[in-house]
Amino acid sequence: MLDQFGREISYLRISVTDRCNLRCRYCMPAEGVEWVPHGAVLSYEQIIRIVRAASRLGVEKVRLTGGEPLVRRGLAELAGALKAIDGIRSVTLTTNGLLLADQLPGLLAAGLDGVNLSLDTLDRTQFAALTRRDELPRALEGLEAALAAPHLRVKLNCVPTGENDGQLVPLAELARDRRLDVRFIELMPIGLGSTLPRRTEAEVRSMLETAFGPALPCDQGGGDGPGHYVTFAGFTGRVGFISAMTHQFCHQCNRVRLTATGFLKTCLQYDQGVDLKALLEAGAEDDALLAAMRETIFRKPASHHFGGGAQARDEGRNMNQIGG
Ligand code: GTP
Ligand code: 5AD
Ligand code: SF4
Repeated sequence: MLDQFGREISYLRISVTDRCNLRCRYCMPAEGVEWVPHGAVLSYEQIIRIVRAASRLGVEKVRLTGGEPLVRRGLAELAGALKAIDGIRSVTLTTNGLLLADQLPGLLAAGLDGVNLSLDTLDRTQFAALTRRDELPRALEGLEAALAAPHLRVKLNCVPTGENDGQLVPLAELARDRRLDVRFIELMPIGLGSTLPRRTEAEVRSMLETAFGPALPCDQGGGDGPGHYVTFAGFTGRVGFISAMTHQFCHQCNRVRLTATGFLKTCLQYDQGVDLKALLEAGAEDDALLAAMRETIFRKPASHHFGGGAQARDEGRNMNQIGG
């Protein structure tokens, strides 16, 4: 469907849990956060009902996120049920990879189309410092398992904070040597993201060009995702940038989000949306659900205002509750 600004909304990001097995410093405090109680989280049946309605409104792609989605039991069954919904063409996952090697066979059997792996460093000591868990070997097992699956699309996400400067070239080299895209994401001022330094796309690009020579144009891969891509001489895959701070891409946004507690959120920054869980639990019929979703999506805001200004109000959710 089209929103009030004529943007085609075809992509739903679903946070299946706020829980996580890491404590990345830009996402969660060291002591963790108080997890949402199980009863306040959408059940798989509720998610399936919402995605059925979303598909009738034109949603074709869903991405499962968290927290860490693989800590929720039975995720492969959910992926399979979503893939089976009429109109849903693609089901993908964003994960830190720790549980991926174990769960990938089930997810592939369910029809998973792609995995985005979050990895900010290849250095074990630095990984332990950034995520507060010494789990790099398991994350790398997850990456290897994903790369070994012949038809799975694999992207790696890295958030440069200045601290991992020395790792940006080694991470980009993965796109030179392996069949994946490596993306650098400008840290956004959401939750703890507003407390840390960030590197801009221009800074990262210049580090990469020093190492690999001039960036070359490449296929943008279709679709209206937030990333834009370049490549370098001799690279197998692409290097992408998701630069919400220096290259606002809201005018081409194609997505809405469902939080773990069932709030349909129409912009990453604002809590504008509708509580679908409450609606379902009040006994809403499919038509009422569809109407509430249609009206909410239509009113999707024009853009975020991370840069400041009168509309820059942060709604106070942490990234683990939104799902990125
Ligand atoms: P694909 O393009 O389908 O691969 O997915 P993606 O890049 O949208 O998903 P992923 O979960 O890997 O997210 C990568 C980064 O992009 C995360 O930091 C997200 O928070 C960010 N991101 C995704 N969608 C949006 C968006 O609509 N607005 C902004 N500002 N950031 C987004
Ligand atoms: N800004 C940008 N990206 C973030 N992520 C988590 N918090 C932020 C933030 N404040 C990234 C994670 C993961 C993806 C889902 O979102 O690194 O790759
Ligand atoms: Fe977990 Fe992702 Fe937050 Fe890191 S960014 S703590 S992997 S939810």
